[in-house]
Amino acid sequence: MSDTAKLQVPGKDVEYPVLSGSVGPDVIDIRKLYGQTGMFTYDPGFTSTASCESGLTYIDGDEGVLLHRGYPIGQLAEHSSFMEVSYLLLNGELPSQDELDKFSHTITRHTMLHEQLATFYRGFRRDAHPMAVMCGVVGALSAFYHDSTDITDPQQRMIASHRLIAKMPTIAAMAYKYSVGQPFLYPQNDLSYTGNFLRMTFGVPAEPYEVNPVVEKALDRIFILHADHEQNASTSTVRLAGSSGANPFACIAAGIACLWGPAHGGANEAALNMLREIGRPERIPEYIARAKDKNDPFRLMGFGHRVYKNYDPRATVMQKTVREVFDALKVNDPVFEVALQLEEMALNDPYFIEKKLFPNVDFYSGVILSAIGFPTTMFTALFALARTVGWVAQWNEMISDPEQKIGRPRQLYTGPVQRDYVPVGQR
Ligand code: CMC
Repeated sequence: MSDTAKLQVPGKDVEYPVLSGSVGPDVIDIRKLYGQTGMFTYDPGFTSTASCESGLTYIDGDEGVLLHRGYPIGQLAEHSSFMEVSYLLLNGELPSQDELDKFSHTITRHTMLHEQLATFYRGFRRDAHPMAVMCGVVGALSAFYHDSTDITDPQQRMIASHRLIAKMPTIAAMAYKYSVGQPFLYPQNDLSYTGNFLRMTFGVPAEPYEVNPVVEKALDRIFILHADHEQNASTSTVRLAGSSGANPFACIAAGIACLWGPAHGGANEAALNMLREIGRPERIPEYIARAKDKNDPFRLMGFGHRVYKNYDPRATVMQKTVREVFDALKVNDPVFEVALQLEEMALNDPYFIEKKLFPNVDFYSGVILSAIGFPTTMFTALFALARTVGWVAQWNEMISDPEQKIGRPRQLYTGPVQRDYVPVGQR
């Protein structure tokens, strides 16, 4: 591969360096393009644009490969824990037992929220969507943890990162408790990260709560599957917000807001709602026809991906986990059968084959979360909880980069050219 790319623009030929990563497509470094040609590139939706350099996560969408710091997601999901994957993403290497114990201990010691935050919740309506509450409460954290907002201090950055990872389960569980009118439960530090979240969500003060180990393992795995996904929309939002020097709590709140959209993290809620609406296998063809109809805005939720043009490796693990959870809880939600048959029908349909549309991480996750007892409105909040580790790791990586600049895209302006103001009486 040549190490420069030549571009012909009216009046001149210019050359740009081609940069290679450790794996994946090379990139053309066009940073000097505007200075040399007076032109911008145009790529709405960033379909061909690398917005940064990163050493965290690699996806080969054609092959259905997802690696965190080089480790395949399937191996991590099977053998690792969410705490271990969090350490890996933040620090670059898998921890020794001692490092893992210390990290888990640190996270555990940050799980409580400032007591005043409980009052903050009471300002929300009881029927508020948990993601609306998450946006507000996480945004408010900078008002409570101001001592970790100096982003030039690596120590403060790490404390803020630990606080965010640790407090997210407490914040999400409290959003749930508030919506059902039950008392908030304080964290219990002898439980695992995921066990603690389950207890804070489903436990009540009047009775001891026993964590079901199969459910705990399944949910921990779901958290691993959501931990990071390179430069997706919410992560790019976190990076863009952080590039201005905004504090980490504000940046993660921005990420949560972006994640909420149905094309992104909100798809898990939308996918289960869709499956429930379909209800019976006989109705699947009707929905497939609607998804293919260009005059109908309906899309198969939990299907398709900007990067994966093959089976999303996270969906494979998710599908397996459904059966484990159903067996452990002795449930058999007919919605799973609808999902399986919908997948099979779509994967054999020329429209989906031609466009390379496969189930993504959100297709089966809702079936599991619903079996565990989460209402659909909590699904995206759980995604946000797990993705927080990816967001803070990416944010830290960006802030530590000496070449980091404020993110400031350009545009192709198509509005009116300069014109003179006309007083209102003369218009
Ligand atoms: N159902 C029906 N048609 C689809 C779907 C779908 N789910 N997804 C894409 N298409 C079609 C789309 O209409 C377009 O057709 P055409 O070329 O004829 O105009 C073609 O496939 C390419 O789609 P696109 O919207 O240009 O692709 P994109 O890369 O911009 O969008 C996507 C990716 C994930 C937003 C999209 O596939 C989608 O809306 N999927 C449903 C929502 C979803 O499941 N989102 C979760 C994504 S994974 C987890 C996460 O990121 O949080």
